[in-house]
Amino acid sequence: MRGPLRLVIDTDTASDDAVALLLAVRTPGVRIEAVTTVAGNVPLPRASRNALVTLEFASAGNVPVHPGCERPLLRPLETAVHVHGADGMGGAPLPEPTGTPAREHAVDALLRLARDRGAELTLVALGPLTNIAAALIRDRQLLDRFRHVYCMAGAADACGNISATAEFNVWADPEAAAIVCDAAACETVTWIGWDASRHDAVMTPDRQRRLCDLDTPLARFAHRVNRSVDHWATEVTGLPGYDLPDPLAMAVALNPSLVRRAETAHVRVATGDETRGQILVDRRRTAAPANLTLVRRVDSDGFEQMLLDACA
Ligand code: BDR
Ligand code: CA
Repeated sequence: MRGPLRLVIDTDTASDDAVALLLAVRTPGVRIEAVTTVAGNVPLPRASRNALVTLEFASAGNVPVHPGCERPLLRPLETAVHVHGADGMGGAPLPEPTGTPAREHAVDALLRLARDRGAELTLVALGPLTNIAAALIRDRQLLDRFRHVYCMAGAADACGNISATAEFNVWADPEAAAIVCDAAACETVTWIGWDASRHDAVMTPDRQRRLCDLDTPLARFAHRVNRSVDHWATEVTGLPGYDLPDPLAMAVALNPSLVRRAETAHVRVATGDETRGQILVDRRRTAAPANLTLVRRVDSDGFEQMLLDACA
């Protein structure tokens, strides 16, 4: 019999990261071995606090939360509090966490876990790739040591959410994303992009109603922490409700059979000013060997059902 799916989750915990954590905690047969946090949506201390609160709220048990890099590799931190709210959780009234962050730095934890038990661990990255890139600088084989690596990253159709062509996680630390691309192999590393989220993970008014109708603390939590994102989505990105990019990436990691369309390709990350964070997908026959699997579409109803089950 297959044992539990063992996860290490790297996250800049704000609204949708929190729902992704909840999904992982509440899906049967899943065990979260460690959470590592990174600056991104919110400054690092806030990301760690949001991760602790969410894990406690979902009764995750004893999951260590390792704080990691406080800023991108080469650039100043530019958060997305304008999207997720000043606290990253849409101003939801949440208790103080009772637990405290682990002492070991996220990068050390990633290196240790990959080296000691990587073959049994799946890494799910939900924020800027700073921690992963920093770990890769010390261990070039890091990605290959894991059973699989899933990242919420990129927009393969060049339709961006933070700039005209870039997705936030790649834009926030493009040099880190470039390091990850450079060390990746498409058999091991899968990116679930904002293009998939924009199509398949939007919480339309009907979906929001179905979630709220569950009337459970977890459903209320999942909906409430996305209040600011809902405003941003409808006012700026032009979606009919908040989208859930990190939960979609988590759903694919938990159940890869949800994938409806994927491609393998050689991908690079643009780091120049105008195209910062855009991913360059080379589909020519003469392209360098594929380094990433890009998930382009996901079973949207299947995803919604997973979310409802997790919040029920
Ligand atoms: C990504 O950026 C963040 O705002 C979300 O948490 C998600 O990881 C979507 O582009
Ligand atoms: Ca995130």
